[in-house]
Amino acid sequence: MQPKVVTLNVNGRQHYVALMPNVTLLHALRDLGYTDVKSGCEKGDCGACAVLLNGAPVNSCLVLAWQADGAEIVTNVGLGTMDRPHVIQEAFADAGAAQCGYCTPGMVISAKALLDRCPHPTEAEIREAIAGNLCRCTGYGQIIEAVQLAAERMSEGSGE
Ligand code: FES
Ligand code: FES
Repeated sequence: MQPKVVTLNVNGRQHYVALMPNVTLLHALRDLGYTDVKSGCEKGDCGACAVLLNGAPVNSCLVLAWQADGAEIVTNVGLGTMDRPHVIQEAFADAGAAQCGYCTPGMVISAKALLDRCPHPTEAEIREAIAGNLCRCTGYGQIIEAVQLAAERMSEGSGE
């Protein structure tokens, strides 16, 4: 196997990297320092590794890095940081929706994808949107509250 040179556009930054064809996007991103993309099951079951790929949520453990060549990739830190949190991240903090926090980056990505296409989701729509994200800590109640809170705040114009 020969390495392939790919361009990974992550959170608005371009990276040119030579990668073996079997390297997953999850590992490529983590090796580039995007450790907010969490590694969990590595088989598509937990959602900890979720990122936006051209605006759509994907489990990065199921995507080969070369398949993301040239695409727009957004991770949790691309949405906001501790200093400048995204309204969804702020809502997760305010609703107590992060306990150990391992699932949180993936949850935030799924919530962002949902609210982009459906600004006023029902509880059922929120549950469906995060159905691929496992959380062993919260029981999901606070996470659903956080997404509802983010939706309210976004409709009031206090977020993107
Ligand atoms: S690590 Fe990708 S879905 Fe679990
Ligand atoms: S907060 Fe711990 S797994 Fe969700």
